[in-house]
Amino acid sequence: MFDSLTALPPDAILKLIGEHQNDPRENKVDLGVGVYRDENGKTPILSAVKKAERHILDHQHTKAYTGSAGDPVFNEAMQDLIFGSDSSANGRITTLQTPGGSGSLRIAAGLILRAKPDVSLWVSDPTWNNHVPLLGGAGIQLETYPYYDAGKKNLRIDDFLETLNKIPSGDIVLFHGCCHNPTGVDPSSEQWRQITDIVVKRELLPFIDIAYQGLANGIDEDVQPIRQLAERVPEMIVSSSCSKNFGLYRDRVGALSILSSDASVSKIVYTQASQIVRTIYSVPPDHGAAAVSHILRNPDLRAEWAAELGEMRNRLKSVRTMLVDALQEHAPAHDFSHIDKANGMFSYLGISPQQVTRLKTEFGIYMEGFGRINVAGITEKNVTYLAESIAQVL
Ligand code: LMR
Repeated sequence: MFDSLTALPPDAILKLIGEHQNDPRENKVDLGVGVYRDENGKTPILSAVKKAERHILDHQHTKAYTGSAGDPVFNEAMQDLIFGSDSSANGRITTLQTPGGSGSLRIAAGLILRAKPDVSLWVSDPTWNNHVPLLGGAGIQLETYPYYDAGKKNLRIDDFLETLNKIPSGDIVLFHGCCHNPTGVDPSSEQWRQITDIVVKRELLPFIDIAYQGLANGIDEDVQPIRQLAERVPEMIVSSSCSKNFGLYRDRVGALSILSSDASVSKIVYTQASQIVRTIYSVPPDHGAAAVSHILRNPDLRAEWAAELGEMRNRLKSVRTMLVDALQEHAPAHDFSHIDKANGMFSYLGISPQQVTRLKTEFGIYMEGFGRINVAGITEKNVTYLAESIAQVL
């Protein structure tokens, strides 16, 4: 039977992990997969997470199953983190713990297909390289809306709003909550207000994927668009991830929150989503979620986590400036100022796939094929080499 299958190429982002690891060059630079790195190029375990894990080790007294929706205490804490404890939508939102943001997206896809199998889901052009395989692969019909102008290196806000205005009522629109992946370009507050007005007016269903809460402008600041939408729309889907902001990548921690038109529908949604979970992975992994739950409920640990997240956010901002300054020095004929204006881990460098390949083969500099860089891989030690190398391929 299996000999009927054909081999597939590896995932464009995940393959960079192994390629970089196997590269013997000492001056190699990893700007590939979206993990945070400190000034020494390491992805450390947050101190708040270590403390929470120690607490779990000492106090957890069973490894018996949780339910398909995971731990209700974690779910409540995540819902508060995203929507705020004073949201007028509370009571209409149901939250399930999921294996990372990807698990959340997959359960959301299952729920969408049960509720409205012929609906279209609109994704930004470009979007995270796994959105289309994950959501389209689950069976949802996908369309795209214009988002990034590769020439001007900024948001195509007019085309974006114009398309939103034409999307059929009832369709679903996937937005990146903050730190748009791959471009790092987010709508301003005023642009989010315009987007929200159109979503409300045209009765679109917003689906927010937020994998970087706290890494753009702040923990509460980054969810303002979600909170404002929640006050004005009857239904909404939010997929959130703790991979980046808690550094729990491999522990697979995320949540799916569904806002429904009223509390009774919300209860039905919970049963449907729980049953989808049961038929895929039965119950979510617990360890990372237990750490997050402990941190969010313990004021001292929560403050420690917020401070560590703030350090990560500030470092991402400062390495952006450092790279732009170095490029200004080594490639003065080219304008890279867009990198300094973007949020979170990613930006498009604005180079061709051929130049991306040259950077890899000739200089040991790894990035996603369309020139997406993870700025967390930039350090004081490698920034000059990076800028010199980019200048050589330009
Ligand atoms: C990325 O875009 O690099 C991250 O979200 C990791 C992943 O799973 O692709």
